[in-house]
Amino acid sequence: MVNVILLGPPGAGKGTQAKRMVDDRAMVQLSTGDMLREAKTSGTAMGLMVAAVMDRGDLVTDEIVIGLIAEKLETENAGGFIFDGFPRTLAQADALGELLTAKDLNLDAVIEMKVDDAALVARITGRFTCGVCGEVYHDSTRPTKLVGQCDNCSSHDLKRRADDTEEALRIRLMEYYKKTSPLIGYYYAKGALVSVDGLAPMDDVTSAIGKILPKA
Ligand code: AP5
Repeated sequence: MVNVILLGPPGAGKGTQAKRMVDDRAMVQLSTGDMLREAKTSGTAMGLMVAAVMDRGDLVTDEIVIGLIAEKLETENAGGFIFDGFPRTLAQADALGELLTAKDLNLDAVIEMKVDDAALVARITGRFTCGVCGEVYHDSTRPTKLVGQCDNCSSHDLKRRADDTEEALRIRLMEYYKKTSPLIGYYYAKGALVSVDGLAPMDDVTSAIGKILPKA
């Protein structure tokens, strides 16, 4: 069982690579962004509370996201967990350490996906995803084979995110540098950090990650 964190700014390719790891290695993707978007559409009190925060590009409170992850770790049974977009603050990193220890789980690697801010605007503003299976696409770098239809599940429910605008991206990046990038030093000091070039073509990033993880 392998447990990894994918760490990187918005658009670094965390979700894209996490989905490939799920397909290739039967791991479970724990994306706090996906969980919060699900809560948003469910119309629950928590969903309503986080909607405006997310659309603006700010971070949701530690308490909410730690609660979501704690619940998943109780209910999901995996060949390993991929933490995608979590932790994002030092408090979340400490909480994850405690949750893993309590479940007698190891953290095998923290994979930092290094990218250049200039590439992120094009990546974020061109992104769309399948509303049914979650496959991630891009207008120019990864279009669907048939216009308007998901390659994976043939759904026509292709969506763009409300926070995928240049304005929200500026705030998301600021949040990343202020609150999340200190985790690079945090995990480096623990000897867990490995970096990959997130600007490389998708398949090259997948193979760089494959070299870090034990064979599936
Ligand atoms: P979240 O959903 O986690 O968004 P994010 O971290 O901003 O990351 P993204 O999903 O935008 O990017 P990604 O790295 O997954 O890139 P992707 O693979 O899609 O969070 C959203 C919001 O939720 C936050 O702003 C916050 O409000 C809240 N939230 C979530 N977690 C939280 C937490 N822990 N604490 C507090 N608040 C939290 O790729 C992007 C595009 O690039 C795609 O179109 C893809 O096709 C393309 N692409 C990917 N890789 C490549 C490549 N190698 N070459 C060319 N194109 C590529």
